[in-house]
Amino acid sequence: MKNSSLLFILLLFLMAFTACIRDKNNPGYAYMGEHDMYYTKFDKAYSPNKILPNGQTNQPPAEGSIDRGSSFFPYHPKNIGEKVTDQAKAGTELQNPVQDNAANLAEGKRQYEIFCLDCHGADAKGDGHLYTAKLFPAKPRDLTSSYVQNMPDGSIFFIITEGSISGLMGPHGTQIPTKNRWKIVNYLRSLVKK
Ligand code: HEC
Repeated sequence: MKNSSLLFILLLFLMAFTACIRDKNNPGYAYMGEHDMYYTKFDKAYSPNKILPNGQTNQPPAEGSIDRGSSFFPYHPKNIGEKVTDQAKAGTELQNPVQDNAANLAEGKRQYEIFCLDCHGADAKGDGHLYTAKLFPAKPRDLTSSYVQNMPDGSIFFIITEGSISGLMGPHGTQIPTKNRWKIVNYLRSLVKK
């Protein structure tokens, strides 16, 4: 074999072995890659956003959207100045449509553990990890307290949906489907029932 073809084969081998880079953050060269056609630039869901007007990447659903299987929720958090808050109104007007049977309570517990436990704690006393580790500044309410337990179901449902009136606890209406919010209410009741 001629020297030049030997060199050529050697070069091919070299190219084959150096073509793959194990570093996932450095994908090597790509045709038109530098023009953002191959590797799209995007912001992560919870990162700040320079382009969108409210500065958030993760956008709330459009005003007035209703999740599948739910109905219009006519109560709003920002009526603090009025005599009767919507939280109180929801308490007198809404009926809990979900039975507190074993299956629903078990699902309510599961939903609580997904959406509430981080702040309110495993025993719902307001000592969740986010608060005790100082990752969330406001003291979450003790959900077994008479302050919460004396509220009608509809008011607790309202708080889960729209957040607390002070705004220290955020709304969860868009994350948790209607039925599951009621199941959480039932689960909270079961914590103090004897
Ligand atoms: C990010 C932390 C956080 C999460 C998650 C959270 N809460 Fe809260 N919650 C709070 C804080 C803080 C307060 C006290 C709010 C205040 O003083 O206005 C509170 C208050 C409440 C209250 C009483 C409202 C009041 O006026 O004080 C209820 C009821 C409640 N939470 C239920 C829940 C349920 C049910 C979930 C899960 C669906 C949940 N929370 C998830 C932080 C949280």
